[in-house]
Amino acid sequence: MRLILLGPPGSGKGTQASLLSIEYNIPSISTGDILRRSIEAQEELGLKAKKYMDEGALVPDELVIEVVKSRLTKSDCKRGFILDGFPRTIAQAEALGSLLNSLECPIHAVINIDVKDEVVIERLSGRRISRNCNQVYHTVYSPPRKTGICDNCGGTLYQRDDDKPEAIKKRLQVYAIQTTPLIRYYQEKGNLISINGDREINEIYEDIVKSLDLLETER
Ligand code: AP5
Repeated sequence: MRLILLGPPGSGKGTQASLLSIEYNIPSISTGDILRRSIEAQEELGLKAKKYMDEGALVPDELVIEVVKSRLTKSDCKRGFILDGFPRTIAQAEALGSLLNSLECPIHAVINIDVKDEVVIERLSGRRISRNCNQVYHTVYSPPRKTGICDNCGGTLYQRDDDKPEAIKKRLQVYAIQTTPLIRYYQEKGNLISINGDREINEIYEDIVKSLDLLETER
């Protein structure tokens, strides 16, 4: 199974990608996570990406495309993969299309998680992440048992710099201008599945799996 998860910041792409990765036993590839790890490791890529990410802008296409190209050719992607947060521009979608054509492994479906801006703001303001294991929480919707401490690894939780109000506003603008054209792009290719993301996490997950099952039986 080869999937793309599309949707505004905070729509739940990462949350659903983790669940789908277990369901289909394929890796979930988040360009945001790769870039954040690279910043932490003070690599050249991270140093170049940081200023864009801090202000909520997109990292230049050529940098992100290279990251994804090298990740998708790793052996764990042979059975499939879930792309979370990539592509985000038409140029990225075109580059991905060419790469997958050359590998003869087309995308099965593009899941568009649809959520309104008010919901995004509420979700991102309450998001907390484990420093050690990256487990994602929400202060209201999925809180840890002990405030500020990860249930999985016992490490501390932090708030992303770009989850502060000014950066959230900018990310939503960037999404509307640069990423929403991809909805039409994939609709025209005939593999877009739109999912209402303003529901319980499990309800959304079951809806995605059901839609993918249906797609498989129709093929
Ligand atoms: P990235 O890390 O990809 O951020 P994003 O797309 O803005 O998405 P988020 O990670 O913020 O949200 P999500 O949709 O994964 O939601 P989540 O599941 O965590 O990118 C960050 C930056 O990196 C970009 O701004 C850009 O600078 C750069 N970048 C990355 N990829 C790039 C690319 N391809 N090109 C150029 N630049 C790129 O959920 C959010 C919160 O809500 C959590 O607290 C969660 O617990 C909660 N939640 C989830 N689902 C529900 C639900 N159904 N009900 C209630 N709460 C929920």
